[in-house]
Order: sequence, then C-alpha cells, then structure tokens
Amino acid sequence: MEPLAAFRALGTEEGRQDPYPLYEAIRAHGDLVPVKPGTFVAVGYRECARILRDPRLQVQDGTAFDRIYPDWRAHSSVRAFTDSMLYSNPPVHGRQRGTVNTEFTPQQVARLRPVIVETVAGLLDRVDDLGAGGSAVDLMDEFATRLPIAVVSAMLGFDEDRVTWFRDLATAIAVATDGFGDADALATADAAMDELAEHFEGLIARKRGCPAGDIVSSLVGLHDADSARLSHQELIGNMMLLLTAGFETTAFLTGDGALMAIANPGYAARLRTDDAFTERYVEEVLRVEPPVHVTSRWATEDLVMFGTRIPAGARVVVVLAAGNRDPRRYPDPGRFDPSRVRSQPLSFGGGIHFCLGAALARLEARIALPMLFRRFPGIALAGTATYRDRWVIRGLRTLPVTTGAEAAAIAS
Ligand code: HEM
Repeated sequence: MEPLAAFRALGTEEGRQDPYPLYEAIRAHGDLVPVKPGTFVAVGYRECARILRDPRLQVQDGTAFDRIYPDWRAHSSVRAFTDSMLYSNPPVHGRQRGTVNTEFTPQQVARLRPVIVETVAGLLDRVDDLGAGGSAVDLMDEFATRLPIAVVSAMLGFDEDRVTWFRDLATAIAVATDGFGDADALATADAAMDELAEHFEGLIARKRGCPAGDIVSSLVGLHDADSARLSHQELIGNMMLLLTAGFETTAFLTGDGALMAIANPGYAARLRTDDAFTERYVEEVLRVEPPVHVTSRWATEDLVMFGTRIPAGARVVVVLAAGNRDPRRYPDPGRFDPSRVRSQPLSFGGGIHFCLGAALARLEARIALPMLFRRFPGIALAGTATYRDRWVIRGLRTLPVTTGAEAAAIAS
C-alpha cells in the first residue's frame, strides 16, 4: 500500500478501529516517510523520540492555527487550549510549565495515593452493587472514566459531587483535540467549554477569597502575585488542559489494562499480589495500547533528519503508537509481554512537552488494577469490549463485565 493511502485510511472508521496494520504499511516505506508535499510521518522509535526533542520542530500554537484553520478563534474549545502549555512554544511554554509543574513534584503526586485508594474503593463498592445478581456492568462508564476525573477534581479543588458532570463536559471538549473535521462535535465541544469556563471563573473567585491546598488556589495565588507569570486566560487554559489531558488518557490506560488481565487470568493473579509485576504490566499496556496514538510538530526551518529533507513549515506526524511497535527497538513488538524491562515506551511523549501527569497516571493504574482484581477475582467479560471511533486519543468505549462476586459468595 502506498504511504499516502495508508495515512488517509487512518482517518476512516475502519482505520480507526485497527490502525496497527496501517502503521506497518507506512513502516514498509521507512521510519520517517514523506506522505504528501509538506507532510511527513514518523513511525520509528528513534525517529519519534528525536523529533520530539528537536527545538527546530514545534507544536501548533495560535500562529500555526492561523495558517491552517483560519477560523479557529471562533471556537472556544480550541481557543482555551491555545492558552495552555501544550499549545505553546518557548519561551511561553517554559514560563507556563515552570509555574504549573510546582504542583506535580514527585512528593505532590505521592500525596495523592490515599485519595486514589479511597476513590478506587468507593467506585468498586458501586460496581459491586451494580453487578449484584450477575448483572453486567460497564467498567469504562462506572470505573475507568470516573477514577481520573475524581482524582483530578481533588487535585484541582473541584466540587466532589460534580464528577460525572465534569466527565461529560470533558468528554465533549476532548473532541476538539482530535482536529477540526466534525463540525457538530466541535459545536458541542464549544458549548461544553463555555459551560465549564463559567464554572471555572466562579471557582477562581471562590479560591481567591478562601484559598485551600489545591492547585487552583495555588495558581490563583501565583497569578495574583505576578500576572506576567501566568495570565488569567493561561490560568483557565491550563486548568482545562489538566482536566482533559489526564482524563480519557488515564481512563483508557486503566480500561485496556483491565481488559488484558480479564482475558488472561494469569496476569490478573499476578496483579493481585506482585507490585514489581504490576509496574511492568502497566508499562506494557502503555506500549502496546497507548492512549495517545499520535501528535504532530511543525518545522520552523529547513532541516535534514535521518537523511530526509524537511522544509520549513512542513508537518511531521509523530505516531507514538507505531514507534512503540518498532521491531528495531522491541523484539516481537506486537506481542504483549510484561516481562520486558526498561521498556520506556513513547506513550507520554518526550522533550519539553513530556507529559506532566505521567507519574500520576502510572500511580492511578498501579493502584486501580490490583484493587480491581483483588476485589473481583471472578471478574469476566459479559460481551464485546468496543473501541471508540477516534484516532488521536484511542481507547475503549465500553467494557461490559460481570464481577463474579455472586458466584464467589455462593461458593463460600
Ligand atoms: C495514561 C495517561 C496519559 C497519557 C498516555 C498522556 C500522554 C501525554 C502525551 C503523549 C503528552 C505530550 C503531547 C505532545 O508532546 O504533543 C502529554 C502532555 C501533557 N499531559 Fe499527559 N498523558 C496522560 C495523563 C496525564 C495526566 C494524569 C495529566 C495531569 C493531570 C496530564 C497532563 C499533561 C499535560 C499538562 C501535558 C502538557 C505538557 C506540556 O506541554 O509541557 N497527562 N500527555
């Protein structure tokens, strides 16, 4: 298959359902492949890692949006993200990230352990109730998507009783990060963003009057002390980013991790008892089913990488999910193998935009999966798990299970 045909097929429903053969079709032409004038696709591990670290290749910021999507300012969901660190380049990026990352030190993240344990326990109680009598429960809806929203809400200081409201708005907004293709989805994202932004404004005002030990209080304090460090729009943009960046991604990691162990009871048994195995298992889920499949960078000047000439203005599509299956980096790359050591998948990106929440996401999965399989040793699939029809952020839509709690109670 020609590289352009494979690249285009990634945008189709069939391609999104199973993009891996298409990555291999592109890889057959090289590790950094020109697919059409001005567009290159990186599928090699080394290539993806180097591109993310090269300062001559930058993220799409407002200036880039002006060239590509002239009407982007009409969309509040897109506007808010362009005020965040993920859509900023140096020096703006360093200033924003340096301000926000004071809240993501290893100590701050470790302090969230009790919150995560308590949240997981509460969610599993609910799954237990819903699964009573052998009823099927959707683990994505009832568990995997609720956990990260509850954790990020606690971190940011959001209202606890609004978890599903945040989740539904964040789901709608996340579509805006998937490109400008679907006008209806973008309109829904804009409406969700407006609703959430209004809520954030109220929250900021409340935290200003009565600061607590959460991120929003701290960022409001930093903004008030020196607005040149973090403007009001940047404060809102980064709150929005934290809410959405850590939500579907972590939910998909937990969901895929649960699915693979439900399908392989040997993994579930080890997750129940073996912390070292759990760490490697989570890394392997991240490698084989990364929640973020792809990101992009734009060349700021003419450059040559790995012998390929990339002109100024060209887009380089960095397929993290393909790099994670590069046979030069991982023997038998398609095989799920939690015994791999120093795997270092590309799943959290690399370079200056390396995921700020990587330690938090790993901690959530390393706590959630063992607790799930300890609580429900007899958990089983109750139908077909389905994937979302999305490419950039990819993961399960539904994961129907029976908890097996009933059978265990009868047996005991
Ligand atoms: C399994 C879960 C997660 C995955 C796979 C993931 C993946 C990524 C990736 C690939 C990037 C870099 C994108 C790029 O370079 O274009 C990124 C950036 C980011 N992530 Fe995550 N993420 C996860 C969870 C989280 C969590 C829990 C948070 C915070 C609550 C978070 C916050 C961020 C932020 C703020 C950035 C932007 C960093 C910057 O631009 O400097 N992520 N993430």
